Amino acid sequence: MGLGNEKDCYILAVETSCDETSAAVVKNGHEVLSNLISSQIETHKAFGGVVPEVASRKHVESITLMLEQALEQSGIRPEQLSAVAVTEGPGLVGALLVGVMAAKSLAFALDKPLIGTHHIAGHIYANRLMEPIKYPCLALVVSGGHTELVLMEREGHFRLIGRTRDDAVGEAYDKVARALGFPYPGGPYVDKLAAEAPEAAELPRVWLEPGSYDFSFSGLKSAVLNLVNQSRMRGEEPDPAKIARGFQESVVEVLVEKAIRAVRETGAVQLLLCGGVAANRGLRTALAARCESEQVPLSIPPLGYCTDNAAMIGAAAYLKWKHGEFSPLSMKAEPGLSLEAWSVGP
Ligand code: KG4
Ligand code: ZN
Repeated sequence: MGLGNEKDCYILAVETSCDETSAAVVKNGHEVLSNLISSQIETHKAFGGVVPEVASRKHVESITLMLEQALEQSGIRPEQLSAVAVTEGPGLVGALLVGVMAAKSLAFALDKPLIGTHHIAGHIYANRLMEPIKYPCLALVVSGGHTELVLMEREGHFRLIGRTRDDAVGEAYDKVARALGFPYPGGPYVDKLAAEAPEAAELPRVWLEPGSYDFSFSGLKSAVLNLVNQSRMRGEEPDPAKIARGFQESVVEVLVEKAIRAVRETGAVQLLLCGGVAANRGLRTALAARCESEQVPLSIPPLGYCTDNAAMIGAAAYLKWKHGEFSPLSMKAEPGLSLEAWSVGP
């Protein structure tokens, strides 16, 4: 398998931006040799959402074991590594810091280059873990913290052409789920309920001004909360399945329409879906059907690479490695790191 071949690149990647502690070894930017994930979801469930201080503490508890196991399972010796990569931002600053400190220590101790990596570049390049990406392409990023349309004219070059003006899709899912009585993170419950519902509640679609690629989900979220409150005020229990389906249909319709229009208007040759909400079955199915009828090639990562993981960080970091763009050991966690500024190459 060419282990130790100098032409091969082995990146040890770390991800701790939110509530998963993850470490992975990725070969040549697309072959996952190991990908360990320790989820804190059970801990945060009790609080109804991610508590930053708790997240940082949990990362500290798990990071060493994740790193050790990722290396061990990969069969790669530390000295064979080409670089150590870590999510530099965006994310929760305390959570990011744990990964950044661990990666810096390791890079220093092993005398390997350090690669600070953008979390969303990671989500996008999760698609590279399956097959090569064709350019120019468009990425629809849907996660707990982000909802963006990103145009990539060439590899590793990011241009934000649309973003949410308020809530991220995942955030809206989690808030709606909470109103319907589901634990955090509620996206998967709403997804399941929507799929089983015989009818859909009527809810608005927010398109914003004509031509805009931006999104807005807070009005839809408020409409759902109003529906729930109004039924309770009438002494009736709201129908969670009907609401879940209505909400999901509104979200999916807007995401699909805007993404397809952006593909057409930018001349992208491929659409990439990514981020935690890319695990949503309603969205996957609707986007796949629409892309097929429009003859737009679509790439969606398998479920395990949609939510936060370090393998995707290894895939994105490889772009920087190819250009010899490394980070200094003085690198800091950057909760507001810009994706466009992280673009690689000239
Ligand atoms: O990308 P991710 O793991 O973390 C962030 O970077 O934000 O995304 C987590 C988000 C949560 O809001 C979660 O509810 C949502 O992804 N999610 C889903 C589904 N699975 C995860 N939302 C809708 N349907 C799903 N099946
Ligand atoms: Zn994420």
